[in-house]
Amino acid sequence: MIDITTNYAGLALRNPIVVGSSGLTSAPEKIKEYEKVGAGAVVLKSLFEEQIEMQSASLLKESDFPEATDYIYEYLKSNQVNQYLELIKKAKAICTIPVIASVNCYRVDAWIDFAHQIELAGADAIELNVYYMDTGLTPGDETDHKVYVNIIRKVKETVSIPVIMKIGKSINNIPALVYLLKTNGADGVVLFNRLYQPDINIHTMQIVSGNVFSSHSDLSDTLRWTAIVSGKIPDIGIASSTGVHDWEDVVKCLLAGASAVQMVSAIYTHGPEIISQILVCMEEWMNQTKYYSLSQFQGALNYAHIKSPNMYERAQFMKYFSSRD
Ligand SMILES: Cc1cc2nc3c(=O)[nH]c(=O)nc-3n(C[C@H](O)[C@H](O)[C@H](O)COP(=O)(O)O)c2cc1C
Repeated sequence: MIDITTNYAGLALRNPIVVGSSGLTSAPEKIKEYEKVGAGAVVLKSLFEEQIEMQSASLLKESDFPEATDYIYEYLKSNQVNQYLELIKKAKAICTIPVIASVNCYRVDAWIDFAHQIELAGADAIELNVYYMDTGLTPGDETDHKVYVNIIRKVKETVSIPVIMKIGKSINNIPALVYLLKTNGADGVVLFNRLYQPDINIHTMQIVSGNVFSSHSDLSDTLRWTAIVSGKIPDIGIASSTGVHDWEDVVKCLLAGASAVQMVSAIYTHGPEIISQILVCMEEWMNQTKYYSLSQFQGALNYAHIKSPNMYERAQFMKYFSSRD
């Protein structure tokens, strides 16, 4: 009997496949469907503070009463937050797999407020979708790390469910940030969020959206940082995310040290059934390689467990090209 259970950030999952935050997880019936095809957990679409702000700004433009600003903002906020809390409650009522809520805020008090309500609504954990891009001209300071640490600290003071931080890969010194997050209470990290990809239309001379979905080639960075972070900080739950498209990708992430993987683009492209197909293939591979539980191979090829950990470092890239004609 093969055991594919895993512990991710304090959550007991029946298997490591998590449906990532997106429109895929915006309705309770869809979430139930993922449970049926075998998902280990789901992350709900994010509750965006910015979206509430934008909607209230557009309503205000149409309003003849500028004094209604606070009223409109508060009304919209409570309406959207209530809808989100309802989604958590309904998903929890019909599913047995863990339901992880997700928020994206920019004011610290909003993170605290939303996190508190999300815990009360019954979410099993909270994923903080933090997006902070420092484009200032002062090099090398750790300002961005402080922003992340401040948020995790405040949210951990507020809730007792596991708190997971989802970060983008453009951040400076990823292991140092994860270590800081861990020492300030983070139960897990998602490596990585895939941010909006800007592109330029040279005919209309406009900035447009690039590929919304990831591709296989995006997995390389995910593997590299999963392996380095899990090798250096073994006691934090890591969900590898971005570029996980098939069963081999899942096995690779586990070998690199992930506790779980998150999938979005592949499910949009192939439908929910890809989850059950991946589970069958992964178990077949485990059978053939005589692994009877995930723990037998999780992290076996991470930074701490391979003879040449620099294989995961950038210098290797240069060596590769310099050895080619
Ligand atoms: C259509 C779409 C909507 C998304 N919405 C969210 C969201 O609300 N919150 C979030 O944290 N990530 C969101 N993401 C990012 C995904 O959760 C995930 O991090 C990213 O797509 C990389 O994973 P993948 O390679 O499996 O697609 C979205 C992605 C897509 C494609």
